[in-house]
Amino acid sequence: MALLSRFIVAAFALAATVQGAPQELGQPGQPSSDPCARIGGKKWVAPSEVRACFTSVRVNETVKANILDVINKTLNFHTSTNYQIRAPQPFTSDVRVNLPTELERIKRQFYRSEYDFHVDLSRTLKRTNDGHAAWTFACYDSLFVNYVPTPLSLLTSPNGTQNVHISPEAFNVSSAEFPDQMDVWQNALPGRLNGQLETVGVDVLYGKPANTLTQI
Ligand SMILES: *[C@@H]1O[C@H](CO)[C@@H](O)[C@H](O)[C@H]1NC(C)=O
Ligand SMILES: *[C@@H]1O[C@H](CO)[C@@H](O)[C@H](O)[C@H]1NC(C)=O
Ligand SMILES: *[C@@H]1O[C@H](CO)[C@@H](O)[C@H](O)[C@H]1NC(C)=O
Ligand SMILES: *[C@@H]1O[C@H](CO)[C@@H](O)[C@H](O)[C@H]1NC(C)=O
Repeated sequence: MALLSRFIVAAFALAATVQGAPQELGQPGQPSSDPCARIGGKKWVAPSEVRACFTSVRVNETVKANILDVINKTLNFHTSTNYQIRAPQPFTSDVRVNLPTELERIKRQFYRSEYDFHVDLSRTLKRTNDGHAAWTFACYDSLFVNYVPTPLSLLTSPNGTQNVHISPEAFNVSSAEFPDQMDVWQNALPGRLNGQLETVGVDVLYGKPANTLTQI
């Protein structure tokens, strides 16, 4: 799957309002040292450049304390907090999380960036596996979106064998939806596949063409 990750590129321009990082715009004609200024206004950027921007914003302790205070108070209205602390078998590993203790940990913990703080909060609340307890932060979530032009599907051969394939329709769908972006994906493919995205609709495990198979 290393090949696939090469052409997963993020889309959607960084909103002009995303500041927060110190604005060092550099000299005219010089590349900016601010990783957010580097990707600002661009439609397609590498995931590593998005991460560099996101992780450049330092934690503001006042904001961090406020976020934890609001979550802490909101959890008082969340009926499952106590259940989630003491969830019995067989749920001990699925929903068992002590959110008050976790919030105390997060309060004490040092984070290199606000993004790291955000990710910890998000993952900690997700451990409840509870659709009513979630943390999102619009400065980061969905600001950039990954599109994979090679979605996978399980296909069945006439003899009943099933295998994972790159969906045969993927090229057609991507071409119809993103006609002005196909070159970005095509040119990201390595070696003889370069510019040949249409040819990758194959069995990803055994390299067999998918055109004789039916989708389930
Ligand atoms: C931290 O956030 C508070 C509240 O928004 C703000 O007043 C303060 O200036 C910020 N501190 C820094 C160093 O940016
Ligand atoms: C959450 O609120 C309780 C009750 O006021 C308090 O004892 C606890 O320290 C708070 N936790 C955090 C992380 O602020
Ligand atoms: C079933 O069909 C697949 C795809 O055509 C083929 O690769 C596989 O060898 C076949 N298996 C058997 C048991 O015939
Ligand atoms: C993709 O589009 C071409 C041209 O319309 C068509 O011939 C082909 O069957 C399509 N492929 C798939 C897998 O739908």
